[in-house]
Amino acid sequence: MKTCWYILFSLIVIGLSCHSPNKLSNSPKSGLVKTFDQNFADAAAQYKVLGKNLPADKFPRTFYPATGKYEFSNSAWWCSGFYPGTLLYLYEETKDQSLLTEAERILKVLEKEKNNTSTHDLGFMMFCSFGNANRIAPKPEYKDILLTSARSLITRFNPKVGCIKSWDGKPGEFLVIIDNMMNLELLFWATRVSGDSTFYKVAVTHAETTMKNHFRPDYSSYHVINYNSETGAIQQKRTAQGAADESAWARGQAWGLYGFTVMYRETKDPKYLDQAKHIAEFLLNHPNLPADKIPYWDFNAPGIPNALRDASAGSIMAAALIELADYVDANSSAKYLKTAETQLQTLSNSTYKAAPGTNGGFILQHGVGHLPGKSEVDVPLTYGDYYFIEAMIRYKNRKR
Ligand code: GLY
Repeated sequence: MKTCWYILFSLIVIGLSCHSPNKLSNSPKSGLVKTFDQNFADAAAQYKVLGKNLPADKFPRTFYPATGKYEFSNSAWWCSGFYPGTLLYLYEETKDQSLLTEAERILKVLEKEKNNTSTHDLGFMMFCSFGNANRIAPKPEYKDILLTSARSLITRFNPKVGCIKSWDGKPGEFLVIIDNMMNLELLFWATRVSGDSTFYKVAVTHAETTMKNHFRPDYSSYHVINYNSETGAIQQKRTAQGAADESAWARGQAWGLYGFTVMYRETKDPKYLDQAKHIAEFLLNHPNLPADKIPYWDFNAPGIPNALRDASAGSIMAAALIELADYVDANSSAKYLKTAETQLQTLSNSTYKAAPGTNGGFILQHGVGHLPGKSEVDVPLTYGDYYFIEAMIRYKNRKR
């Protein structure tokens, strides 16, 4: 009798644990993984269309479906690393050699930017591209290019301010944007491979200053902080690409979420994890986050619910939440994953994912670059594509 009770009790425990919502929702869902595999195949076909239309020395910037016109950039544009980065991710997923060949071709055009000290975007430009190339197939020349890029990036660090300068402003101004958090991953990599802690110290100091000055009490962030370049004093907190100085520009919030998640991964300092969790809570609990979880271009955009969505902010958020889900307790993890799943499912639908052969070969539609500047509004964007693919790979590679 005792044995019968014991068996019954064990069966109930096993049954309950199998049906625990956390266990279920923390595992990759096979239906979604199937959708993602189809997305990788479709994306690879799209990027071949994009590649065919690309002038030899240019990088894709956007495409205007209404007129059928492309906009290209040179290698100095902040987005130049996303095209090779996406090709490399897609090569990893599909093993299609022609994607690698095209990535290697465009990397040669990009290489010269390693010496560019006039931009803070070297992390985006060089780590999303050469960083992935070196991860897939390490080469001494890739390592040299990445280390040179990291050295160029830290020339913009000002110890008085405690930040890397984002934009060159008027004399006396030292402008730092939240986006700059995304350039720090390159510096952590540089310290790891060179043994020189300078890069690490610059990254940590930049993050500390950003955590102190860029965030509001509700953990939304300003876009731009204008520091005095001589004293480090704050002169102004404002926006450039958002709806208003006090608004929460969606992509900026996503950059902050991703940036502080990387800070925790690289340092294991719990204060960065707390920061990332606070940002996630701000975003996930925001009354203006739509049910399909693709943010409006600004959480305080005028005209909501008729304001434009920004697919790129959705992609970046999803990639960040999937990583952050690995660092938190089971309940938070399930919550972050559920949001990321909804985002990726939404982006996989025909509203966002372009039909084969359309959209100039870009993968996603409906990104918002710089709405107040009337630039790249409701168009495909290379970073929307890059983080969409990254997020799906991260999801697929989660441990079951
Ligand atoms: N400044 C980079 C962005 O538009 O997100």
